[in-house]
Amino acid sequence: MLLTNRQMPIITADTEEEMKDFIFKMPTRVYFGNGSVKKLPEICKELGGSKLFVVTGPNVAKSSAMAAVRETLDSAGVEYVVFPDSVPDPPIEKVDMTAKLFAESGADMVVALGGGSPIDLAKAVAMLRTNEGSVADYLFGGSKTVANPSVPLIAIPTTAGTGSEVTAASVISDTKNKIKLSVTHDYIIPRAALIDPQIQLGTPALVTASTGMDALTHAIESYVSLNASPMSDAMGMYAMKMIGENLRVAAADGSNIEARANMAVASLIAGIAFMNGGLGVVHGIAQAMGGIHHTPHGIANGLILPYAMERNLPGNLKKFGDIAVALGMNVEGLTAREAAYAAVEAVFDLREDINVPKTLKDINIEEKDFQGIIDATMPFRLLAINPCRLVENDIRGILERAYAG
Ligand SMILES: [Fe+2]
Repeated sequence: MLLTNRQMPIITADTEEEMKDFIFKMPTRVYFGNGSVKKLPEICKELGGSKLFVVTGPNVAKSSAMAAVRETLDSAGVEYVVFPDSVPDPPIEKVDMTAKLFAESGADMVVALGGGSPIDLAKAVAMLRTNEGSVADYLFGGSKTVANPSVPLIAIPTTAGTGSEVTAASVISDTKNKIKLSVTHDYIIPRAALIDPQIQLGTPALVTASTGMDALTHAIESYVSLNASPMSDAMGMYAMKMIGENLRVAAADGSNIEARANMAVASLIAGIAFMNGGLGVVHGIAQAMGGIHHTPHGIANGLILPYAMERNLPGNLKKFGDIAVALGMNVEGLTAREAAYAAVEAVFDLREDINVPKTLKDINIEEKDFQGIIDATMPFRLLAINPCRLVENDIRGILERAYAG
């Protein structure tokens, strides 16, 4: 079947500009498929693990996903201990305490089962097994850099959104200073990721919708980032297309395995896109909102994304026009500015259909809270690769728009 121009995947390589140098990383081995969780014993063996430390949260610990992991490990006779007390946005103290339990457990490999938080906790714990001190020492601006490779980590995501199963960052909360910071190093990238759509069937609708918005934000921010490369662009573009075609169904009918599978792959691809292309102001604001107001990451991204896109349009009209097409908009006959704005409309439409919070008022953030969020956003290091250079007033403008709706 021939594709029309509108249906064709979009190639945006700008031949008038000289190609920039780039590096592309994807060290995680991915095992995708329904039932792929059954490969866990064989992968552990291959990576040299003799006893596993399984990091998960209290809800997932009681879920069919955990039952599937237990069953596969028990039937293969693999020794393991389960740590079921991961919390959203793990704080420094929680990480250090979990690292101590891991050291005492006699386990030599970590498995993360859950959404972004347990995977990030597991990354930090695996790193602290071979690097001395508190995780606080290794956070952005800390006194130490990761010097030794982590013990092997296998990530099994139960949500489709964070991409943490393939990335080099672990986001940790400094609750004293009300800020979320990252440990970022190639040594903490999971060695393997098991992407099993079947174990994601039980994810609640709001989590499906909001983590899907996180994945979309990864794809869009990496695509328009100043650090984007043809490789990250290819990943970001394909992820956007898959999310545009599947997130509505996955959020409306969580039992639709095809939509779940497509979202799981889209999230993975968007993770690879942003590990290489970087992120921008949406993540800066979301991280600030998470640190101060404990706003769940995907919900914060969904609240901010369309308004940040509006502000960022002048930075790259062509690429925002590509995003519009990837998200199914008809841009024929439109000016470059109109086509770019169609991308913002597509995100508004998607957000409307998946029923996530739409204004800051919906999550009880008030205008008096803006300055704190702005102050915590400005030091975000990835603002340097946002498509437009932003100052405090720009962040305020985005927050005002997100407040008014
Ligand atoms: Fe994210």
